[in-house]
Amino acid sequence: MSAVYVRRLRLAAAFVLLTYVVLHFLNHSLGLVSLAAMEAGRWWFLALWRSWPGTVALYGAIVVHGVLALWLLYQRRSLRMPAWEATQYALGLLIPALLVVHVTGTRIAWWLVNADDPYSRIVLGLWVLSPQFGARQVLAITVVWLHACIGVHYWLRFRRWYPRAQLWLFTVALLLPVLALLGFVSAGREVAALARTPGWVPSLVQSTHAPGPAEAARLLAIRQGFLNAYLLALVVVILARGVRRLYQRRRSVRVAYTTGPIVTAPIGFTILDASRLGGVPHASVCGGRGRCSTCRVRVVRGLEALPPPSEAEQRVLARVGAAPDVRLACQSRPARDVTVMPLVPPSIDPGGAMTPDARQGRERELAVLFADLRGFTRMAEKKLPYDVVFVLNRYFAAVGGAITGAGGITNQFTGDGVMALFGVDAGAAAGSRQALEAARAMVDGMTRLNGELAGELAAPLRIGIGIHAGPGVVGWMGWGESFYLTAVGDTVHVAARLEQATKDYQAELVVSEDVARRAGLDLSAFPAHRIAVRNRTEPVAIRVITRVADLAPLLAPAPR
Ligand code: FES
Repeated sequence: MSAVYVRRLRLAAAFVLLTYVVLHFLNHSLGLVSLAAMEAGRWWFLALWRSWPGTVALYGAIVVHGVLALWLLYQRRSLRMPAWEATQYALGLLIPALLVVHVTGTRIAWWLVNADDPYSRIVLGLWVLSPQFGARQVLAITVVWLHACIGVHYWLRFRRWYPRAQLWLFTVALLLPVLALLGFVSAGREVAALARTPGWVPSLVQSTHAPGPAEAARLLAIRQGFLNAYLLALVVVILARGVRRLYQRRRSVRVAYTTGPIVTAPIGFTILDASRLGGVPHASVCGGRGRCSTCRVRVVRGLEALPPPSEAEQRVLARVGAAPDVRLACQSRPARDVTVMPLVPPSIDPGGAMTPDARQGRERELAVLFADLRGFTRMAEKKLPYDVVFVLNRYFAAVGGAITGAGGITNQFTGDGVMALFGVDAGAAAGSRQALEAARAMVDGMTRLNGELAGELAAPLRIGIGIHAGPGVVGWMGWGESFYLTAVGDTVHVAARLEQATKDYQAELVVSEDVARRAGLDLSAFPAHRIAVRNRTEPVAIRVITRVADLAPLLAPAPR
């Protein structure tokens, strides 16, 4: 069966079960009105769920949900998963063991021995006669509800409307079980009072055909049989996973990331499994269920070694306008070594899921930053190659951290120069503010670095930064393994020119007026100039900031 149908089936089953639980809770909450109201509600509840269609839907959903959960547990190659997913799994595995007592005491007893299960009899058992079973039932419904809520939350959370509806849904999610429990408590008190009436309990036992000792023993055997079968199924799944692991240990693939790490993973692991195995941060908003697209990677090498995308994967990729060499990491199981480039930051907001991929070659408004070390070439001539590399790497770490920390993307490290993009996704206004913040952080980083390397350097390192904002064509460009997200166009050209202008003005930073305007900053306190740029008829209006520290008062309150 294709993954699409499995997913649809699972969703349909979950929806039926959720409906059942919600109606059950609403029925319980009628206990706040009276026991009689609860019983009246139960009539409607049973009319639905004990009809043939209701029975088939409910028990079909239980079987489908349970079997698919075990199947997915087997399918899943790595058990490393986010905490929310692990919690949902653990709660889900507990549910059958917790609910089997209740189900055999109600539905199965009704089926097998014609025992009626009105609220009065069930509440008598759970509230008056065996409160310890009542406590277990409270635990069971809490576990069921948490499992359901986590599932619904992670199913819906990347829908655009969800953030707006979240408060309402949370309120409902909190109120429903609370009202159900209060209804149960209220009914419990009413039943306890009735139980003190002479003859009420025997008459209830008789009128509902409550199971006698022999029937109770039969029901107990059924319950035990179910529990044994469930435990056996779990053990079989765990053993099957173990056998597969032993078999696959001899066959592995290497998943290389363009960001550096290489992970060796057993064949059969998805690329996302490999990321989790190797501790490589990788976005996966839907938890690897092939729904959110956030795990998508560009396959730089080894695309042909991947099995073709399933229909479901193709549909998700089409929705985000993915290029032909882009795959969902959670759905792709490499049979040979691959090199991949994750396309979405691990920290992506769920709302950013399923957004068209703006990085495949689009014209965007963005800010571009160029930076260069002043006088480093002369300094390098007097140093050993080892020292040059050491100093440069420290410098790249400082400026790279400042750029990514401000929200930018380091693009090219050439010689002692750096190019960075800001606002690729967020636009030029946010990008301009981020670029200015990055400039400040870069200069701060250089000051710290100069302090640390004071004994190594004849003179402190100085940096010149140019920033311009405007339209540019952004996309993944390059060849072979040297692919990176970059931008081309006049904006890049002008930003590079502004960086060179820092030498002419002996300044740490030169920005265009376009950057100031887009960032919403008043830079009128800084000298204004107009400079010519090759291949441009119009000069560019700029502001010269001799010391970036002077920007601090303006930047501090700026929103990110
Ligand atoms: S993690 Fe959501 S589609 Fe892969």
